[in-house]
Amino acid sequence: MTTSETRSLLRHVLGISAAALAAHPEQRLNATQLERFNALVTRRRAGEPMAYLTGKREFYSRDFVVSPAVLIPRPETELLVEIGLSHAGKRVLDLGTGSGCVAITLALELKQARVTAVDYSAAALAVARDNGRRLGATVDFRESHWFSAVDGPFDLIVANPPYIAEGDRHLSDLHFEPSSALTSGADGLDAIRQIIAEAPPYLASGGWLFLEHGYDQAVAVRELLKAAHFSSIEQHQDMAGIVRVSGGCLFSNNEYGKSRIGIIRNLSVTTQVGVNLPPLQGEGWGGDGVLRGILPPIPLPTSPLKGEE
Ligand SMILES: C[S@@+](CC[C@H](N)C(=O)[O-])C[C@H]1O[C@@H](n2cnc3c(N)ncnc32)[C@H](O)[C@@H]1O
Repeated sequence: MTTSETRSLLRHVLGISAAALAAHPEQRLNATQLERFNALVTRRRAGEPMAYLTGKREFYSRDFVVSPAVLIPRPETELLVEIGLSHAGKRVLDLGTGSGCVAITLALELKQARVTAVDYSAAALAVARDNGRRLGATVDFRESHWFSAVDGPFDLIVANPPYIAEGDRHLSDLHFEPSSALTSGADGLDAIRQIIAEAPPYLASGGWLFLEHGYDQAVAVRELLKAAHFSSIEQHQDMAGIVRVSGGCLFSNNEYGKSRIGIIRNLSVTTQVGVNLPPLQGEGWGGDGVLRGILPPIPLPTSPLKGEE
């Protein structure tokens, strides 16, 4: 246990700020406070995360209440929020909202957006609703198995689903957090597979889907997005240079035909899309951290594209 954690628990028990503790280091704990402090120290020594001991965690510069019913918000998930903010439309859906950190942040940062957030855990939703109220965010929280209780269409769908493989050695460090928020099948991709496969009818034409995933799942997620006919596929790196968020855009057949012609003229497509297009050439990282490739020149179709007849 670090000195900073000890101070943090002290402040929590005393109910004072870091500045107040620094200004009055002579403060004494009364008997009740001492008993509480000792109990928290014991729990911390047993490995319980600080966020569960203090009941809160900062995310995107706001304090979120957390309990063992929800995943503790991670700094890397702020990348998902950043990408969501730069691709947002009016109707936004957050899948597997947990503490509500992603949905609430998007709702507070995007004043015009209508944000819906789902989780299948009623206990998690209670925490998310509490956070929404405390932080003054308007979010439509719903109990739902992924898309089962939402209508759509949405302009943006974001998800930080469970993505750790059952039996992964890292799970032993995470046993205080709900396993339903962490693991997803033998390869960790069950939830991601289901979300990508089921998302299309819930997306508006030109709408975006972005998912956070594991450090070693970028290729698999990209293939799943391609197989589901997502275009303009983007893969974003975290601060450590690891791809942690992937997503793409979905066009209806008619819109897709238009966009395809526009893309071919510009020669600036971000990845291979749909039928009849050759593979990308020269894929590489842009300075903005987005993986891009270039469509080789191809003749414009002389016959109508599927769906344009
Ligand atoms: C990795 S946590 C993410 C929580 C929060 N969005 C965050 O980023 O901190 C995944 C969440 O998905 C929820 N979840 C798992 N399976 C689900 C399903 N089939 N339908 C809806 N939510 C699900 C879990 O309850 C959990 O809250």
